[in-house]
Amino acid sequence: MKFIEDNIQQVDKLFLYCTAFVFKKIHELITKIASPNSNHHFDLNLLIQKGHIQSHPLLTFMESYLNEYSSNLEIQHVVSTIGEKQIFRKIEEIDKHTSEVMLLVNDVLAQFACFYDGRKKGKDIIFSLSGAKRWKILFRDSLLAKMNSHLVLSLIDSSLDLSQKQKWLELGAGVGGTTFDLINYSYKKKCLETYYYSDIHETFWNLFIRDLKNNYNFPCENIKFLKLNIDDIPCCKQFDTIFATNVIHCASNIISCLNIIKEKLLVTNGSMVIAETIRTAKYKNIFLEIIYHYVEDYSSLPIHVNTKERGLYNHSEWLNIINQTNFKLINNIQLNSCNAVYLLK
Ligand SMILES: C[S@@+](CC[C@H](N)C(=O)[O-])C[C@H]1O[C@@H](n2cnc3c(N)ncnc32)[C@H](O)[C@@H]1O
Repeated sequence: MKFIEDNIQQVDKLFLYCTAFVFKKIHELITKIASPNSNHHFDLNLLIQKGHIQSHPLLTFMESYLNEYSSNLEIQHVVSTIGEKQIFRKIEEIDKHTSEVMLLVNDVLAQFACFYDGRKKGKDIIFSLSGAKRWKILFRDSLLAKMNSHLVLSLIDSSLDLSQKQKWLELGAGVGGTTFDLINYSYKKKCLETYYYSDIHETFWNLFIRDLKNNYNFPCENIKFLKLNIDDIPCCKQFDTIFATNVIHCASNIISCLNIIKEKLLVTNGSMVIAETIRTAKYKNIFLEIIYHYVEDYSSLPIHVNTKERGLYNHSEWLNIINQTNFKLINNIQLNSCNAVYLLK
């Protein structure tokens, strides 16, 4: 837990400044299209009437964001005493990578007008700005991503028996936010037989393996790729532990997806580690919230609750979901910094 203990206060500060930064951005944006009063409130219904239907969830989210933080003294103190550039510099000083993520938020919000009047679709805005570099920063290099992978390491270090050689599978491995740390850990523990990196998209794998070869000194023979869609899982009961970081929420039905993973992929008594960014009363992972609210039809996804209010689950919703599956919750850690990890058997 050393990494986590050493960085938790920095993460708290990051959230404070990122929230203040985004508050200013959203307020500026809304001021352009509506006339909020001095308390930052605006007439949501009026804006909704004028805006394209796809923009309604995001507008509702932005209104609730402004409402929530206009009564938060800590945030308001920063908003009213520090200019936007200075706030940005403070974020940069704490974690350069997170400041890049804030630039991504800035660029995404800058395109809101085209989304509001229906000229552009949310997915086009989000993914036109992707550029592999920025997604890697968000999911792999930023301090929050690092906190997430260290939570996973800390959980397995305290709970998994690694005395036998392991076959590990990672679902939705993407840019490899957790992968590098897990592979590194397994080499140190000398416990790896094979690491199966999987994703629904093969592109990520090509980027990942190139990075691995160029920047890390790992032998790559026992790292393999599987193209795997968590909504269409094949039967190959062979993995000792399955890791899923920020991907299980993508399943069209989370409960049945977890049951199928247990039935079809895990060896008897195998373990499943889920890591998810969660929403807490104090913190929101603003970038993920914005992605969710830009993506069309988000509110019609089957299992999400109160989607108009938020894009992420909170910890008790995850516990509730896990409780409804055939898995047993063995251990979990949740941090106030938006990350939670669950070990299931
Ligand atoms: C938010 S990213 C997380 C990436 C990585 N696990 C991390 O935490 O850095 C979600 C990943 O899940 C993948 N994904 C989305 N839907 C999927 C599905 N149905 N089956 C498998 N992977 C999926 C995406 O391609 C993406 O790489």
